[in-house]
Amino acid sequence: LEIRPEECWWIPKGAPTLIAPKPSCDDELSQRVYRLLREIIKDPNVELPSLSPAVQQILVMIEDQDVDFGGLAEVLAQDQVLAAKVLRTANSAAYKSVSPISRLDVAIPRLGCEGLRSILMGRTLREMTAGLDGDLRQAAQDIWNRAIASAVMVSHMASTYQLLPGQASLVGLLHDLGMTGVLKVANDHQREFNEKVPRNVFDALCWEWHELIGHRIATAWELPEPLPHIIGGHHQLIDDDDPDFVYMYLVQFSDVSCSLLDIGPYVPYDFFKTPCVDTLGLKDDELTRRQLIEIPELIRERSLQY
Ligand SMILES: [Fe+2]
Ligand SMILES: [Fe+2]
Repeated sequence: LEIRPEECWWIPKGAPTLIAPKPSCDDELSQRVYRLLREIIKDPNVELPSLSPAVQQILVMIEDQDVDFGGLAEVLAQDQVLAAKVLRTANSAAYKSVSPISRLDVAIPRLGCEGLRSILMGRTLREMTAGLDGDLRQAAQDIWNRAIASAVMVSHMASTYQLLPGQASLVGLLHDLGMTGVLKVANDHQREFNEKVPRNVFDALCWEWHELIGHRIATAWELPEPLPHIIGGHHQLIDDDDPDFVYMYLVQFSDVSCSLLDIGPYVPYDFFKTPCVDTLGLKDDELTRRQLIEIPELIRERSLQY
């Protein structure tokens, strides 16, 4: 395999660093908006993003021991966009469909519960990051792009660590779920008071609150473990005996990689020396380079599915 230097996205452009710069909002106006929104976010009764009734119902149904595929198909059929997406995915190359599937009750078992959950969550996240104004529009787009990229990367690396690709994909997709909560608070404020929330204020709020808010949302949505645990603590110091140890580091690996891939703000991480890449045991060798080099194309493919 011939690797061209321009394909090596993991080589930092600029002075290499091990930590992301902390977002700052020091000017007076930013500080005022920041403090205001922080008080709203801290309130345990703040209104957070909610699931559509159909999605909620399907999530409950697939938790069931013996899943009722006919019943699921009926609920799913109420949401045309979702139903179309399920059929498209079941017929895609990824599921190696032999004959075309046109019925939902056939398509659903093909995807499996994990696959279906992934579609539901992808669509929910997409809806939450669409239709915003001002600086928040770009912030939302960044959240979405990073979620897709993380889903691709965590599942791409999953087999190396004996993790299930479906679950891994969901972990990547949802790990920063809390940012959609911060997004909602900021967007509601913009609408209500006709006051723009600058990007640096949004980033500072996310930095501080996205894990806690994410945990609240995951709990409210009754997402199964390990999701709430990972969503609520992926930037904390990770215990060696944490059962989701590898997921936590893979999520961090995906964050580092997103920044190096220009998905969201660029950070010139010293890739192989970052604690997550190092702990995951990834070395600058042929095998790892082969794995890494596939990532941009996989992200492009996955992005096209939405
Ligand atoms: Fe995060
Ligand atoms: Fe992240």
